[in-house]
Amino acid sequence: MDVVINLDDLRTARSMLKEPVGLVPTMGYLHAGHLSLVRRARLECASVVVSIFVNPTQFGPHEDLDNYPRDLQRDLDLLEQEGVDLVWTPTNEVMYPQAYQTWVTVEGVSQPLEGAMRPGHFRGVATVVAKLFTAVQPDQAFFGQKDAQQAVVIRRMGRDLNFPLEIIICPTVREPDGLAMSSRNVYLSPHERLAAAVLSRGLFQARAAFEAGERNADHLRQLVLEILATEPLVKVQYVSCAHPESLQELHGQVEQALISLAVTIGKTRLIDNVLV
Ligand SMILES: Nc1ncnc2c1ncn2[C@@H]1O[C@H](COP(=O)(O)OP(=O)(O)OP(=O)(O)O)[C@@H](O)[C@H]1O
Ligand SMILES: [Mg+2]
Repeated sequence: MDVVINLDDLRTARSMLKEPVGLVPTMGYLHAGHLSLVRRARLECASVVVSIFVNPTQFGPHEDLDNYPRDLQRDLDLLEQEGVDLVWTPTNEVMYPQAYQTWVTVEGVSQPLEGAMRPGHFRGVATVVAKLFTAVQPDQAFFGQKDAQQAVVIRRMGRDLNFPLEIIICPTVREPDGLAMSSRNVYLSPHERLAAAVLSRGLFQARAAFEAGERNADHLRQLVLEILATEPLVKVQYVSCAHPESLQELHGQVEQALISLAVTIGKTRLIDNVLV
């Protein structure tokens, strides 16, 4: 497994990879969710490239950039075991050299939900993903459904900018109690960790209600809110029942929806979603 930092080294290593090439972008501190993307890439592609970069431009000024969990050696060991061909670990200076001033902004679908709570977040995401695509030139890129809006934003960007690659969204990997795996779960105290199971419980109950015939978007949202309210440690930022592509909030009867939520538990911010 090759590990490179600079663009020149990346290009040299990339040119020697067997095609098709799959890319899995990550911020490191890898868990089973990341590894599921790597395995899917392994299945679909002859070569797998993983990037590890804690992208400063997608963090707000009061967010957790400085405390973001990191363990590069452990990450590299895991990726080696998965048979990854190439790992790119750019520094901030490689990604955003002196005088950097070019940004990718996806408009409509970046606005609601996470975009409303985290101004500038998707500008950072879209910019770094565009730079990863340009540098690695993958045939396929793999992202997780856990970050549902990110998936929609990147799909939109890929189409709008004609990136010649396929974007593949993989299912959310969960802990046994339903909590979506996230690098940020390590921030949770034991009490908070127990409380966090209410997120998926609420979403799964809404999905079960939908499957039993409940098609009213307002009722589905209300159902999730009621279940979240049973857990005093959970502070709700939003519960949304939105169109899965436009991300516009839905009301009344619906045929399909992305039910998503963001909460804080103590100092930790968590998101999750189900598609119905
Ligand atoms: N539980 C999961 N199941 C499937 N994919 C996931 C999961 N968690 C993250 N991913 C995907 O892994 C990729 C890299 O995400 P990232 O490195 O930000 O991990 P993360 O766990 O989302 O961390 P954080 O929650 O701190 O942002 C993204 O495409 C993301 O959607
Ligand atoms: Mg993430």
